[in-house]
Amino acid sequence: MSFEFFLPCPRGLEAALAAELAEIAARHLNGAPFTAGAQVPGGVHFRGGWAAGMAANLHSRLASRVLLKLAHQPYRSEQDIYALALEQRWEQWFSANETLRVDVTAIKSPLRSLEFATLRVKDAICDRLREVSGERPNVDTAAPDVRVFAFLTATDCTLYLDTSGEPLFKRGWRLDKGAAPLRENLAAGILRLTGWTPGTPLYDPMCGSGTFLAEAAQVALNVAPGSERRFGFEKLRQYDRSVWQGLKAAALDAKKAAASSRKDLQIFGSDISGDMLDKARANFQRAGLPSIVLKQVDARGMSAPIATPGILVANPPYGERIEVRGRGPRGEIRETGRDRREDRDSREARDTRDSRDDDGFRRVHTDAPPDSEFFKALGDSLKQRFTGWHAFILTSDRKLPGQLRLRESTKTPLFNGALECRLFRFDLIAGSVRQRPAGDTPAA
Ligand SMILES: C[S@@+](CC[C@H](N)C(=O)[O-])C[C@H]1O[C@@H](n2cnc3c(N)ncnc32)[C@H](O)[C@@H]1O
Repeated sequence: MSFEFFLPCPRGLEAALAAELAEIAARHLNGAPFTAGAQVPGGVHFRGGWAAGMAANLHSRLASRVLLKLAHQPYRSEQDIYALALEQRWEQWFSANETLRVDVTAIKSPLRSLEFATLRVKDAICDRLREVSGERPNVDTAAPDVRVFAFLTATDCTLYLDTSGEPLFKRGWRLDKGAAPLRENLAAGILRLTGWTPGTPLYDPMCGSGTFLAEAAQVALNVAPGSERRFGFEKLRQYDRSVWQGLKAAALDAKKAAASSRKDLQIFGSDISGDMLDKARANFQRAGLPSIVLKQVDARGMSAPIATPGILVANPPYGERIEVRGRGPRGEIRETGRDRREDRDSREARDTRDSRDDDGFRRVHTDAPPDSEFFKALGDSLKQRFTGWHAFILTSDRKLPGQLRLRESTKTPLFNGALECRLFRFDLIAGSVRQRPAGDTPAA
């Protein structure tokens, strides 16, 4: 039996996800049905059997969910949506004993209230199950057994049954997040866009809680991203335990084979904050990735962690500045020039939130523009000490190349949640680093 699946992903990663799915089908499905489908903004379709749906959940690093498409029809009112949901054979998938959550998302829907539409889908499912079994399922928005998604356009309603449960970027090992962690599937997608492959040195000089590094190490060690978590499909009637156990066992064998032939990972990270590095270490420990090399370094003075050039990847702070606050000979906290300036400037002091890491670095969260001195120094480090490297920097700030005084080779639009970003690529080729004069026209 073949189903239609839709896999949402961060916008900008659709082509990368389609390529990943084709690889998953070739590597893990042993000829089980799989047909690639269309890429649409924010996701990718495919057709396949139940095993393909489970394999996508287990192996996709880029998808946010694996949704099973149940129905698609034009609508004009909430009543049309109720009728469409009522006619679905929900009893084929789950019983009234399972708890339920319904989510409705919409683009240009004429409906006044999405909450009311959500209620109508939930009512239809409950009414249907009561009709066939005499019982209604309970709603649980926090930890439901079953999730149903409705997607509304201006004219059409699509109903999906979720097979993932928690979103797939939750790999099951991260506890320590840090201030602004990237979602794992966005980090994995960016790694794919950089063209990095295991064996090539990888360095994140502002690694925070270590998302790029952990995703890269899992690729290098052949760890299936879903191997440490549970999935929504385990609660559905169609759940085939033996097929699932077979997929997991094969993933475990692949991981063991990679571990036995493992060489030095050549994956390096640094951050100015020792506190963040502790979080990263704790995450790597839980994920079983202890061999990533971490150092406390200010990125302004960074140098290449290894002689062989590789890929540098980072998402620098934005709207946040971090100042080194060293301790003097008697242990006193030394103020930087900026600290004194900020203390004098009462308006700015009002607009900032100040927090301090355990290690004495002072984090100043602010809506002011990012520090141009910081990016100039970062650009100088790249030019002077990263010859032969390819640097990829994700930011929502289109002026980044000008601030680094570097000319980008490419810029790829990507969405970090709702935030529109660019992934800038800088090729730091010997003798031909493309410099951008200060004040040059910002990148579009
Ligand atoms: C947006 S976060 C990166 C998040 C990271 N990708 C993750 O997934 O957790 C930016 C990081 O830059 C670090 N940072 C800020 N200023 C720095 C500097 N001068 N040198 C090195 N790291 C710095 C912060 O401590 C923070 O961890």
